[in-house]
Amino acid sequence: MRRLNRKETLKVVKELDAFPKIPEDYVKTTSTGGTVSIVTFIVIAGLVISEFMYYLDSRMKYGYDVDTDFNTKLQINIDITVAMKCDYIGADVLDSAGDSAMFKFSGKLKEEPTSFEMTPQQRSWHKTLQTVRKALSEEHAIQDLLFQTGFSSKPTNQPQRVDSGKKLDACRLHGSLTTNKVAGNFHVTIGKSIPHPRGHAHLALMIDPNNYNFSHRIDHFSYGTPVPGIVNPLDGDLKVTNESLQIYQYFIQIVPTKVKTRAAKAHTHQYAVTERERVINHGAGSHGVTGIFFKYELSSLVISVEEVYDPFWKLLVRLCGIVGGVFATSGIINSLMGLIMDVVCCRFNKFKSLKTEEESLPGHHLETDQPPSSPGILASSSSSSTPN
Ligand SMILES: *[C@@H]1O[C@H](CO)[C@@H](O)[C@H](O)[C@H]1NC(C)=O
Ligand SMILES: *[C@@H]1O[C@H](CO)[C@@H](O)[C@H](O)[C@H]1NC(C)=O
Repeated sequence: MRRLNRKETLKVVKELDAFPKIPEDYVKTTSTGGTVSIVTFIVIAGLVISEFMYYLDSRMKYGYDVDTDFNTKLQINIDITVAMKCDYIGADVLDSAGDSAMFKFSGKLKEEPTSFEMTPQQRSWHKTLQTVRKALSEEHAIQDLLFQTGFSSKPTNQPQRVDSGKKLDACRLHGSLTTNKVAGNFHVTIGKSIPHPRGHAHLALMIDPNNYNFSHRIDHFSYGTPVPGIVNPLDGDLKVTNESLQIYQYFIQIVPTKVKTRAAKAHTHQYAVTERERVINHGAGSHGVTGIFFKYELSSLVISVEEVYDPFWKLLVRLCGIVGGVFATSGIINSLMGLIMDVVCCRFNKFKSLKTEEESLPGHHLETDQPPSSPGILASSSSSSTPN
């Protein structure tokens, strides 16, 4: 019983064979077929290679959503150098949470006396940053590349000062502050800030206002976790003024960003900035407090950036599609060409045979004058002309 079953199933399976074998004797090969085959193989090879390249390449997918993350804090990463001694200036953050001007941030900026003049290495790094930023503002596709390569503008990538003996005429403020995730204002002004219950004040030492110098360089200014691939619009910013009573204002619009790339996976922030600078001149109606102000607001949208790869099975599906499709198409082309060849050849053959008939016709007439010497003519006209 069992054996019979197996035999029957074998038969059924045999009938299901989609690849009927044709004996080689019945297979005709032609030179046109060969040519088409060679072209087909070349086309398939080319397409398969390009498909592989596409598969190995990754793409950036951008999306956006409403920001539903209320509880996180906002981290501000700062590395700026101001052309004044550290004793003279102070930096702090005010945020607009609750009772306006309370000290609601944690963390402290390190103050480091330095020289405002850059070393040649720092200058070239600065130039690189500025070039990248400029290119970025002109061509968005560069952003994809930055994400893919994980270009990092972190201050740690900046060359350190090596020369000593320079005049320490400037102050480098660097570090991270953490505040509430609300709009706020980070600023650097004259005097150390001292908190008091109703806000804070900057205790201005007795410095001659003529010695104020808010020329500054921003090596890094970012929000959230620093992520490779994001070049912040203020990184590499350099402002030099020869006016002592100068106000620099940066209006910043922060966009929360979720980054998921090969180089990084983080929840961070990007921003856009517009800037304004003016000189205080009470006589001309330009009032204010000298200093550098970063006023920031948060966008309610969150942008997601994801590096996507095609799964391997998709590559397989596409490869099968390419190979099968090209093969089937080439089959059609081959039979079409065969058909055309046949038609042309047949026409030609017909034409030829017609011509030979026409050629044989004068022979037909000649035959009456000449003796029937040619056996070919005799053979061809044996039925019609036998009067001789
Ligand atoms: C501030 O310092 C920079 C760099 O040292 C200098 O070029 C500029 O003239 C100074 N400005 C004032 C007002 O002293
Ligand atoms: C600052 O520089 C400008 C030219 O760039 C000059 O006209 C002006 O007099 C300078 N001001 C001071 C205070 O040196």
